[in-house]
Amino acid sequence: MNLHASRSVNVAEELLDSTHVDSIISRRNSRAAELQTQVAQLLCKMRIAVIYGGDSHEDGSVIHRSHNPRSWKSYEAVARDIANSLTRLGAENVFILPDDMRLSGKLAEKNIDFAWLNTGGVQGFASVSHTASLLEMLGLPYVGHDPLNCAVMDSKHSFKRMMMGSGIPTARFITWHGSEGVFDPDEHVRFNSIFYGYEGPFVVKPVSGRASLNVEYVETREELSKVMDQIFDLTENFVLVEQFLSGREFCIAACGPVVVQQGELKKLDTPFTFAAVERALDADEHIFTSMDKRPITNDRIRLLDPVDDLQIMKRLHNLARSVVTELDINTLIRLDVREDENGHLFVLESNPKPDLKAPTKDGVTSLIYAGLGQYDMSYDDLIHSLVADQIDVLMSRHRGSIHHLLSLLDNN
Ligand SMILES: Nc1ncnc2c1ncn2[C@@H]1O[C@H](COP(=O)(O)OP(=O)(O)O)[C@@H](O)[C@H]1O
Ligand SMILES: [Mg+2]
Repeated sequence: MNLHASRSVNVAEELLDSTHVDSIISRRNSRAAELQTQVAQLLCKMRIAVIYGGDSHEDGSVIHRSHNPRSWKSYEAVARDIANSLTRLGAENVFILPDDMRLSGKLAEKNIDFAWLNTGGVQGFASVSHTASLLEMLGLPYVGHDPLNCAVMDSKHSFKRMMMGSGIPTARFITWHGSEGVFDPDEHVRFNSIFYGYEGPFVVKPVSGRASLNVEYVETREELSKVMDQIFDLTENFVLVEQFLSGREFCIAACGPVVVQQGELKKLDTPFTFAAVERALDADEHIFTSMDKRPITNDRIRLLDPVDDLQIMKRLHNLARSVVTELDINTLIRLDVREDENGHLFVLESNPKPDLKAPTKDGVTSLIYAGLGQYDMSYDDLIHSLVADQIDVLMSRHRGSIHHLLSLLDNN
């Protein structure tokens, strides 16, 4: 470990201790070594499917192609990165499959034991939750959020209401649906009560979206209606109008407490929160430019320094732990957070399927990978952590549903 990494890890450990939130999940501590052995056996013996988004335009993928409120992406390349990493970690049977209507048959045919969800779904409402629901029905355990959490996190208005109910700050907002008729800010009772005394600027965005697509900065209330109409026409779903937060923008990742560092498995007392970065916004860049248009490179993000940025890091880590606790999150999320003009932090959204692209030689990275070095972790350590943590959750919380996995262990 180099000096910087060592200093970072020490401060990172201090950050892990500084939680103000109670430990969430009753996990069995003190069995890290046993768990590491079990995970190694399972990785070797399980038949694993890494699932990406099926294309509704392909023949035989759906019965009827429907409208897609969320901008579709296959995520196949990242599924491949995850599959390659699982293979390096010792998995002997890894299959990469799309989640279209043939998925159940393929999973049965290939005798799949365990899956990794790297999909936003094929089409339709709450598409991020569809494959998790299917796997629940099929009795197949997976790395991924349960259907309820997937649907909540991919519906920004529902997620924000959960945040408000939990006392976690999020920008004030209203929702509007095209079926309500033309939006008139002067006549809209809820708009006038929520934004009383506030004239703008605003952010208008789809409730289900990704990568800043169709997220618009709107200076005045008079301009709102036109932009809201445009977004509704594209998505046919609720449109969110939020107060524009003019301060700095940050991201932080969080997952369960089982962490693999340099190949060695550890169990923390709290969720693992990491990769706190500031997004570098250009002077006139109100909305962080979509990674579809401008890939994430190291000049687009600034990894927060555990010494110089300690105070903001502590606040971000505590915020991330609170979100994980309140939603009972069981695997990886990435929070997007922004400050208002007074430096108060607000959660913009929680991404249920953050980008897990493996780093490339040309400097294209992911917001999550960028932060792993501070914890002396590699990409493979992160993939290993997420599998191990999920197996720990299954063994401690869903033992009755994983007989087929338990039967693969040596002592059974
Ligand atoms: N209320 C807001 N105030 C300031 N900027 C915002 C606000 N909401 C969204 N943004 C900007 O738009 C980007 C995308 O919004 P976000 O809610 O993260 O949706 P998604 O990433 O799913 O498209 C954010 O990264 C941020 O730059
Ligand atoms: Mg975002």
